[in-house]
Amino acid sequence: MNLFDVYPLNNIAITSAKGSYVWDADGVQYLDMYGGHAVISIGHTHPHWVKRIENQLEKIAFYSNSVIIPIQKELASKLGDLSGKEDFQLFLCNSGAEANENALKLASFYNGRKKIIAFSKSFHGRTSLAVAATDNPSIVAPVNETGNVIFLPFNDEAALRDCFAQQGKEISSVIIEGIQGVGGINPASIPFLQLIRDLCTEYGSVYIADSVQCGYGRTGQFFAHDYAGVAADIYTMAKGMGNGFPVAGILIAPHIQPKHGMLGTTFGGNQLACAAALAVLEVMEQENLLHQAKDNGNYLIGKLKEIPQLQNVRGRGLMIGFDVPEELKGLKKKLLMDFKIFTGEAKPNVIRLLPSLALTRRQIDDFLEALQEAIDELLTS
Ligand SMILES: Cc1ncc(COP(=O)(O)O)c(C=O)c1O
Repeated sequence: MNLFDVYPLNNIAITSAKGSYVWDADGVQYLDMYGGHAVISIGHTHPHWVKRIENQLEKIAFYSNSVIIPIQKELASKLGDLSGKEDFQLFLCNSGAEANENALKLASFYNGRKKIIAFSKSFHGRTSLAVAATDNPSIVAPVNETGNVIFLPFNDEAALRDCFAQQGKEISSVIIEGIQGVGGINPASIPFLQLIRDLCTEYGSVYIADSVQCGYGRTGQFFAHDYAGVAADIYTMAKGMGNGFPVAGILIAPHIQPKHGMLGTTFGGNQLACAAALAVLEVMEQENLLHQAKDNGNYLIGKLKEIPQLQNVRGRGLMIGFDVPEELKGLKKKLLMDFKIFTGEAKPNVIRLLPSLALTRRQIDDFLEALQEAIDELLTS
């Protein structure tokens, strides 16, 4: 049987990993500035994470959500502490798309409305509603098309005000990434997020903070949306939550009270996933990773801004993007092939950096040195 290639492949087989390094089948070491697509939060194969999963595996890996699962409560309590959302409820599921799907659905159950506001260049996942709220027609199948999603220009306060003035009573939810990831590292402006909060409150709509990529400490705050100083009604989380173990969830504000049947899952919140997720939070706390992400992110952003060939350096903490000019269009590939460094991209010309929050200063300096050399070589070749 042939394997379906999910994405165009780099011809590299990664077979082991530690911290911010991965190794291929021939033992070649790579620096991971991509974090396996923003997934590696505390570092690959962190010893505490490995131990916690191993210990859990020896006890029980899975039992259904029809019984009390004490480790879920432990996770909810720790997540409440670290995120500052102690009074929210946690629903656990398995992926970012599933988290957004449930958030959009729950919002509609809550206010009985159908319309969703999403924004240009958004990405919310590939399940039915999540993909309908994603601004990329090429991944929306005919069966997913719905007249219920209104796309507005990102960070455009006037357009948002207008839309609410005309159809506010029909708007079920507004879904927005604190920093757009797939769209190319575009931060939502603070006044824009504050306006979403105000309008959702005024019209009884639900503010959904898609924190799948920009959440979980990556930007130096637990949620990138926290920079706006306002609370969303639902936060969606995945990626960094399990450091590679598939686990996701939504945080639900106290005024939204789901009833039995509105949300459900077989695998969500299984014991093994909770052990992985708890290990992540414990390491984030013990190693002060939010602080480190902010500090190291500021340092890296500052240094990138000093490189004249890189345009429009942007981001927060360790969620960083910059535009690559035409004469350096081979930069990402060169970093990978010649300097053994993984980075991410966004079409047409953005390099995205989404490393582990435990990335060290030394690794940042190694990256910067390699980046400068790669640029110099491309300009002189
Ligand atoms: C902001 C955002 N939301 C949702 C998703 C979908 O997450 P998943 O691939 O886990 O379904 C992604 C994935 O890249 C994302 O970046």
